[in-house]
Order: sequence, then structure tokens, then C-alpha cells
Amino acid sequence: MKIGYGGDYNPEQWPTDVWKQDFRLFDEAHIDTLTVGVFTWGLTQPGPDVYDFTMLDRIIDRAAAEDRRLCLATGTGAHPAWLAKHHPEVTRTDFEGRKHRYGQRHNSCPSSPVFRRLSTEMARRLAQRYAGNPAVIAWHVGNEYGGACYCDLCADGFRDWLRTRYGDVDALNAAWYTTFWSHTFTDWDQIEPPSALTEHWRGPDHTAFQGITLDYLRFMSDAMLANFRDEKAAIRESDPHTPVTTNFMGLYRPIDYHRWAPHLDFASWDNYPPDDRSPARMALAHDLMRGLKDGQPFWLMEQTPSVTACRDVNPLKRPGVMRLWSWQAVAHGADAVLFFQMRAGRGASEKYHGAVIGHAGRADTRVFREVAALGAELSALGGVTLGARTPARVALLFDWDSWWALEISDGPSRLVRYLDVVTAYHRALWTLGADLDVIGVTAPLDGYDVVIAPALHMIKGDLAERLSAVAFRGGSVVTTFLSGRVDENDNAFLTDVPGPLGALLGVRVDEWDAREPVYVNRVRVGDATFQSRLLFELVLPQGAEVVGRYEEDWYAGTAAITRNDFGAGHGWYVGAGLDCAGVTWVVRQVLERHWLLGPYPDLGEVETAVRVAPDGSRLLFILNHGSSPVDLPAVPAGINLLPGDPLVLEPYGVRIVNMIT
Ligand code: GLA
Ligand code: ZN
Repeated sequence: MKIGYGGDYNPEQWPTDVWKQDFRLFDEAHIDTLTVGVFTWGLTQPGPDVYDFTMLDRIIDRAAAEDRRLCLATGTGAHPAWLAKHHPEVTRTDFEGRKHRYGQRHNSCPSSPVFRRLSTEMARRLAQRYAGNPAVIAWHVGNEYGGACYCDLCADGFRDWLRTRYGDVDALNAAWYTTFWSHTFTDWDQIEPPSALTEHWRGPDHTAFQGITLDYLRFMSDAMLANFRDEKAAIRESDPHTPVTTNFMGLYRPIDYHRWAPHLDFASWDNYPPDDRSPARMALAHDLMRGLKDGQPFWLMEQTPSVTACRDVNPLKRPGVMRLWSWQAVAHGADAVLFFQMRAGRGASEKYHGAVIGHAGRADTRVFREVAALGAELSALGGVTLGARTPARVALLFDWDSWWALEISDGPSRLVRYLDVVTAYHRALWTLGADLDVIGVTAPLDGYDVVIAPALHMIKGDLAERLSAVAFRGGSVVTTFLSGRVDENDNAFLTDVPGPLGALLGVRVDEWDAREPVYVNRVRVGDATFQSRLLFELVLPQGAEVVGRYEEDWYAGTAAITRNDFGAGHGWYVGAGLDCAGVTWVVRQVLERHWLLGPYPDLGEVETAVRVAPDGSRLLFILNHGSSPVDLPAVPAGINLLPGDPLVLEPYGVRIVNMIT
């Protein structure tokens, strides 16, 4: 066994004589894993009662005969044209209330009974046909679930979902605080999906009723999860064991992946970073995806070997970058490295999307050569990384409810974005080289010395007690402005801010100031000063020690950063929107206290990550994200698993050291 290598393969798009060339090139590039059937519903069900698996049979037989492992998709990520014609209910209604007609993909209403019945039936028939085929090693349900629908079927589904959640309308009225603006509901059927036609006055984030909008986000995520679960259950009728997944999108707001995760057998995701300066952000997304299944390895289901096509401007991955980012995925827990796509399609919107094999079918392109070289390297490495785990002592909390609640809030500032806050703290951890898990708020915290919870806006269940327990036993908890503000219904706590976190943090916040980004308030910490922007909470210590103070404005001299002794540990509160240097300073204090700095905390573009293999080997990954060579001060003793000078990392260079312990 080795790291799976390959990707999306759509040979139904070209004549079979090309297939021969495909497989010859796959051999050359050590490609062993193919995802097939992702958009085949129109082929496999050409009419209402007509199923035709001839093409898929051919693809699967051929791939199996060529010894490839298959990730078989159910193909329901785009519905056929006839389906929309016969049953207009399957298309979505958008946020503005426009009922869509046939077109595009990811276009089905999740509540449509016809969509649910026929997509499930497709999964059922595929499983009946291909279960037991030894080439099929995984199922890929749908594709990149996302978006939202606001149709009447979804409105009914929402009302059902609310009935289950609240039981009676009075409980719903209380949760949504409907005495405000005369909104008291007396019957479920008065409730409308929150859209541009109802509660929203300017786009999806600007709502008059946070409670309704928050619940609709939860409902939509659950409605699509129900689609996934329907198909999975249909697969399980005839295939009890082959693992089932769907490709997630990393830091994707509309779907609460923590609520989905228990229903997947393994996580997988598609990595299309916004630009080529995103190594920390990719690391965060990888760690989030790995954290979905309790640290179990995931698949990198898609990445482009070279360029994307959907952006206005689509930059090319520089030589070496595809290899570097592939190893980065492995460093963070990937057991498979797959591309979209194996061969470039000839027409439509992805004809200029990067592919392992271009339109001309050449092997002597730069991209193909790099793909083949990485394939050879992965083959040479074999299975040492498979099933390895990340030995993290640091947890970063990530919470979709807090993300939603913070960003649909009126006040204090639309400019404070959840991901900006999370990525600022993550970037500091990443730069300093801490191995970390990104986990949801219900995950156990027992194994961690440090828990960082940026912008933990919503406090649910026993989270406050569990965070307190981390500090009490000697750990460090760090949180920021806008934490501990609301309960699970997005209603404020009737206590001092930060609500249930008050005792742990030893502070009280009565006032806060939000300013435009041009305004800077400096925060003094010992001899250093950092800049802060956007949000300035006036932190009143209630036992906590003041670590940093504002320097400007009428609140100059008051606390911006505090640290509270709690039990044997600490609760840190950062009330200001600190700049990168300031956040890094705070995070460094915390990591140093627990001896958790990585081996190269001062080498900006060098990333490190450790994985522990099932046989106990500790594998240290060292990745140079910079375009210049880097001298490493020292490398832990061990065996180099990739070629290269152990002390000088070439631009985009990668080392894996099997450390001798
Ligand atoms: C997504 C989809 C693929 C393809 C790629 C292109 O990840 O899942 O079908 O469209 O984007 O980048
Ligand atoms: Zn709908």
C-alpha cells in the first residue's frame, strides 16, 4: 500500500481510443487511484424510467483491468435536464426568490421529494451493480454539497425542522426573541425562510432576526446532510463495508462539517486556495478536515496540478509548488493525493482548467513531468505515512455556529470576520511550528495543554466548564474579543461579558469601540508595542493580570490583553484586534510555557509538521514555502526519506525525516 495518487477521470467525455493513451500515461505517472462518475447522472439515467450503465461499466471494467483503484461517485452533483423539465420542483429558488430553471450543477433543491427519491435510487442501483467489485475502494456521494434553496418545499422542510427542534411555537418565539418588532408567531405556517423577500435587508448576512437566519443556516446544512445520508443508506443496502465519503471544501461557511462528520467514513476535501500565498490557510483547512474524524487521515480529493479556471484571474502553480502542496497535505494527514482532473475536457467552462494530461495528450509537458516525478516519489516512499496521526498538544477551536452568529450580527462591526480572527491565531501557531488539531466545540479537550478559541462568540452546552477544566489542570486557554457573548439561540447572556467564560478569564467587558480599518490603537506589552484595529474592547480586570494596555484615545492605559491565573493554569483574553506581530507575541508566550514551539519558530516560510505512524515512527515534515533557499539551523537525527541536502532546503523544498527517538 502507498499514498493514493490520481484523481477525477471523466473518460465518458472522449472516444475510447483516447483511453488507451490515458492509461499509458497513468502508468508513466504512477497513477493508481481514479475518481469516476462524478457528473454522470445524465448518462446513467437518460430518461424517467431508463437506466443505462453501459458507459460506466466500460469505464469501470477498463480501469479495473488496468489495476486502478476506484473512488466511485454517485453522480448526483448535477441533475439531468429531463428531470428538471418533468419535475420543475427539483431546481432551486435563490435568496432573491428567483425560481431557477434547468442549468449549471449543484442545482437540486435538497427538500425536493423527486430529487431525494431519484438520487437515492441512483445510489442504490450503482451499489447493487458495483458492490463487491474489488476495484472500488471508496464511494463518493454527490459533489461539493453547498449553496442554499428558499423554495416552498424548503419552507415546509424548515417548519418541520423547527417543530423537531422546539416542540411548540412558544419555545420558538422565546428562542427567536420575537416580541421584538411584533414577530410573535402563532402557527408554524407563518414562518418564512429568511431571504431578501423576508427578513434580510441587504444580502445574506444582514438580517433583522438572527435567530431565524441562524436556524435556516443550520436547517440547510442538515437538509443537504439528509441527501447525503439517503444516498449512503442506499449504498449500504448492498455494500456494507466500502467506505463512503463526499468531497468537502475546507473553510466553507454554508455547511457545518462538524455536524456532517459522524456520517462520513472518512473525510475528503478539495484544495483550491485563493492565491499562491496561502500556505498557512491550507494548513488550517487540512487540520480542520483531519479534525472532523478525530484525527483520522483524510483524502485530498482534488487539487489542480497547475491552474484553476473559475476565477477571474487564474495563476499558474510555479515549478515545485504542486509537489510542495501535495506533501503539505500528507504532512497534515492526507492518505491520498488526487487531482482534478486527469485529462482536460475539450469544451465548456473547464476546458482551460489544469489537468495532468492536456488536450494534446503529451507526456513531455512541464506539468506532466512534475506529476510523474511526484508519482515516482510517492511510490518510492511506500506506505510509511499511511494511517499516521498528528501528536498535537494544541487545539484550535472552530465552530460554524460562532462563524454564522458573528457574521450575521448587526454590530459591533461588519468588518470583523470570523475566519480573519481564526486565521490570525492559526497563522501564529503555524509560524511558530506548533502541531495542532483543529476541533469542534464538542470534541474532548483532555489531551491538550493549550486551547485557543478565537472569536468564540457562542457558548453551547458545557463548553465553558470544559475550557475551565483545561486551565484548572495547568493548561492555557486563549480567547479573544467577541467571545462568550451569546447562547445557542444567539441571545445575549444576562450577565457580564464574557458570559460563562468570566470566571476563567477574570475579566469583565462593559464597552467596546469599533472603528474603520484606518484607525490604529497601539497596545503596549512590556517594552513592545503592537497595532490593533477594527475592534477595541475595554477590558476590566476582575482578578486577571493586565498584560497589554491601549495607548490611544480616552481609554488609553486600560487593559487590552489580560492573563488570569485559574487553578494551575491560565485564561488569556485578548480584547483588541491585534496585528499579526501582536497575536504572535501572545501565542508565543503560551507555547513557550508549555515547551511547544516547533523546531524552527523563527524561519518564516518554513513549515514543520509531525506525524506518528502506526509503527511508532515519528515523521518530521519540513516544507519551504519560500522561493529562496533556506539554511536550517539543525535537523533532528534521523533518516531522510526524501532526497536532498539535510541542512539546506531548496526553494519549495521538502524533507521528511524519520526521527530516531
Ligand atoms: C470543484 C469540483 C470539480 C471541478 C473543480 C475545478 O472542486 O468538484 O468538479 O469543477 O472544482 O476546480
Ligand atoms: Zn428548495
